Amino acid sequence: MAAGRKVEHAPRVVIGVTGGIAAYKAAYLVRLFVKAGADVHVIPTPTALEMVGATTWEALTHHPVLVRTSEHADEVAHVRLGKEADLVVVAPATANTIAKARAGIADNLLLNTLLVAQCPVVMAPAMHTQMWEHPATQENIAVLQARGVHIIPPASGQLTGADSGPGRLPEPEDIFAQSWEILTGEHPDARAEQHSTEHTLRGRNILVTAGGTHEALDPVRFIGNRSSGRFGLEIARALLERGARVTVLAAHVARDITALASGAEIVPVSSARDLHQAVLARVKNADGVVMSAAVADFRPAEPAASKQKKDGSGKRVVELVENPDILADISHRRRRSGQLIVGFAAETGDANGSVLDYGREKARRKGADLLVINRVGEKTGFGEVPTEITVVTPAGEVIASGAGSKAQMAGIIAGLIADHFTTERV
Ligand code: CTP
Repeated sequence: MAAGRKVEHAPRVVIGVTGGIAAYKAAYLVRLFVKAGADVHVIPTPTALEMVGATTWEALTHHPVLVRTSEHADEVAHVRLGKEADLVVVAPATANTIAKARAGIADNLLLNTLLVAQCPVVMAPAMHTQMWEHPATQENIAVLQARGVHIIPPASGQLTGADSGPGRLPEPEDIFAQSWEILTGEHPDARAEQHSTEHTLRGRNILVTAGGTHEALDPVRFIGNRSSGRFGLEIARALLERGARVTVLAAHVARDITALASGAEIVPVSSARDLHQAVLARVKNADGVVMSAAVADFRPAEPAASKQKKDGSGKRVVELVENPDILADISHRRRRSGQLIVGFAAETGDANGSVLDYGREKARRKGADLLVINRVGEKTGFGEVPTEITVVTPAGEVIASGAGSKAQMAGIIAGLIADHFTTERV
């Protein structure tokens, strides 16, 4: 296991998209930031939204896209977003937005954000050559630069129609590289070499359990939980991206998200005992097991064979018996040497202990090689909501932590799994 790798919170990057013809290129830029591990929020201007719709930005960033200043609560959220951002990039930046930013006009959310942002701001102008060369634009650019805004000058080349000359939006890779350097002080190529995600898990078989088990009370009723399975599927996807062969044992995973793990073998299971059998059948061939499923601790002792009727007593007592602890079972009875077993702990913390206290205790008790402690609460935990993780060893050492979308946290976990096998090979 690679020791001491710490992951700080994912950098928050706001990408402002204005209504230039090159707005579509911003989608590539967003992808580059997301791939690099940033928590990206897109704020399009109303005109930009006519060119690239909100669904594209939401699918790429996993965050809702808000545009109107009249959406009062959202305006507050965006003021906060602007204040909390580590970097704001406006690409493409039209002559109109540049002029308004210079004047301090705030008639859309992007301009509001620019007024509150305390972080570095990068603008990549794109427009017709005449507009770019016009003294008004050049003066606006000079004023913004004097205020500390980083301007990535437009590239020369064919513009819309027959025109050519300076005005084209530079390639997304160039905007990303320059912006990333401003954000981190590090050239992205150097970083890519350090933390390459390219097929570091090629040839590894990884078993991922996802979703929440259902424990039957009778043929139509069950005891279940609120897990959607999204985190498990995001982890499966991050492992697939690194070249692993992935099998997902899916306990009632929401149907609309199974495509997240396309490329994995998906095996549906229902109860904790079904899942246990499915894990035992495959664990011998697995290099790694990721136990992200929310497994019910108890099941009805005697599920009824037919649908239960009310009996008039005004109450029903159901006897529950404990389910096998799958994670503890596979951790304590290793089926394969060198195997990496990753467990999860969904914790809220209480008066007797913090989230970390309970997580450390669980890591020791269950014997997993890594335990991902996931803080759950009203606004974090289940579904597509921000997630906070801390990864500990059975000895209680914290080896990574992070906060952000489930996709980003899945990337951290897959990175740690890849580190384990890379270190093992050396
Ligand atoms: N788990 C399991 N089998 C069970 C219960 C849980 O394999 N019967 C696994 C989960 O997949 C997860 C880890 O154990 O990886 C922790 O689950 P959690 O529900 O947080 O732990 P519990 O054992 O239920 O502990 P407690 O109720 O004391 O918090």
